[in-house]
Amino acid sequence: PGSDAHLGYGKIILMGEHSVVYGYHAIAAPIGLSVRAQVTRQASLREPVIADRDVDGSVREPIRADLSHRVAALIVTRLGVPDAGLRVDVFSHLPRASGLGASAAFAVALIRAVADSFQLTISDAEVSSLAFECEQIVHGTPSGIDNTVATFGRSVLFQRSDAPGGHTIRDIFTPHPIPIVIGLSGVESLTKQTVGLVRSAWQRNPARYDAIFSQIDGLVLAGVDALRRGDIAELGELMNINQGLLNALQVSSPEIESLVAIARRAGALGAKLTGGGGGGAMIAIAEPGGTEPIITAMRSAGYTTYLTEIR
Ligand code: PMV
Repeated sequence: PGSDAHLGYGKIILMGEHSVVYGYHAIAAPIGLSVRAQVTRQASLREPVIADRDVDGSVREPIRADLSHRVAALIVTRLGVPDAGLRVDVFSHLPRASGLGASAAFAVALIRAVADSFQLTISDAEVSSLAFECEQIVHGTPSGIDNTVATFGRSVLFQRSDAPGGHTIRDIFTPHPIPIVIGLSGVESLTKQTVGLVRSAWQRNPARYDAIFSQIDGLVLAGVDALRRGDIAELGELMNINQGLLNALQVSSPEIESLVAIARRAGALGAKLTGGGGGGAMIAIAEPGGTEPIITAMRSAGYTTYLTEIR
């Protein structure tokens, strides 16, 4: 295995975040940003040491060091390897707490690097299901979509089933790559929190919120058709309506709304938050060749952007 064996992929949710937690469909796609882990064995260490590094190699404070350690402890236990003597360097190209699946990508990279270091053979399905358990530590009640895309690195239509970690995934193909601009709100937000807020609202009034989730589901299924036909205008319209419903769930934020408005004014055919919301990231789609004005407008307003594509 080469260095690719140590990667966990970042992702965007094109449509269907939050409702996916309740068993409805969502579309997710990998992005060109990932997390890579490197394991060094150091006999003197009594427990695993994890260094969270930026792309430039500088060590940064983890958001929740206690969670990273619980994740690492779970991984060594499940893989049946000794927990002493492990040093893990995690290099992340993904901004954290921004809805781009950094925690799942971290878990996948760690699992792959530890398994490789002990020459264990582990299938992608096993990687994904262990990463799901790690996500339970970090997120509480994850749908399983993040660990799936972090592991497989492919665009999927995802639906969870009732068995813990159970799901169905179908590959999605587009006739031509569709460019996507990612905008960062600059506000870190923990998915566990927004998922919790939606859950309490749903518990207070299940019928009202199930109706919203099922409306989102209809948009997602129409979105799959649009993707398969390469119909960017239709996909954009569906994303815009999805954003309206995410707003109804109150998981948008002033910065996300501002980015969405900037993107639409600059010609985006669709713009919405992606991932947990409450801050974090948003995405905008455009015809091929139409991304430049969107990127320029977002950057002049002071936001960080990335360009990716769904294929
Ligand atoms: O914020 P992220 O990148 O972890 O995406 C979370 C997506 C949710 O649908 C909000 C939660 C989930 O587990 O599916």
